[in-house]
Amino acid sequence: MQVKGKGTKQLSSMQPGDTTDILLPLGNGFPDTEGDCLILAGGMGIAPVFSLLRSTEKPTLIYGARTESELFALDIIRETNSEFIISTDDGSTGEKGDVISVFSRLFPDFHGNILACGPDAMISSLRRATEGKNVRAFVSLEARMACGVGACSGCAIRTKNGMKRVCRDGPVFDIAELIM
Ligand code: FES
Repeated sequence: MQVKGKGTKQLSSMQPGDTTDILLPLGNGFPDTEGDCLILAGGMGIAPVFSLLRSTEKPTLIYGARTESELFALDIIRETNSEFIISTDDGSTGEKGDVISVFSRLFPDFHGNILACGPDAMISSLRRATEGKNVRAFVSLEARMACGVGACSGCAIRTKNGMKRVCRDGPVFDIAELIM
């Protein structure tokens, strides 16, 4: 777990048997897709796609992180029937390069559906890499959230269809809708 603030600090200090309150599910999810499907996950973006690895027929996953020690849950991924490609920015394991550059290198002619989650830079890069191609991409965005239920607008982003709240209107958006 990456400790990045008060909330994750508290979560990381929890012990087996501790309890907490959780409000879920919130927002939308990835749509059902037909045909070829590629799943892309960058860093902590692996968490939202776990269920896809189990529910999608023969998915192919590209999962990347900055370095080998930042790759999580490889044992869980191996238990799914997905084909997966690991990448690291520094080349410490797997393919060298970030997820989108590896995708572009290994799947230059891919057409079909892409389901992705990762940091904004990865999503922007995916948008550029798929522009003008016969690809439909849905991305789960990462955003700082306060209320989580659409009340505070703290997670609002600009889209081609006006302002949207990542927590309530997303977190999954058609990448064609995004302004990045
Ligand atoms: Fe409050 Fe999204 S976190 S509106």
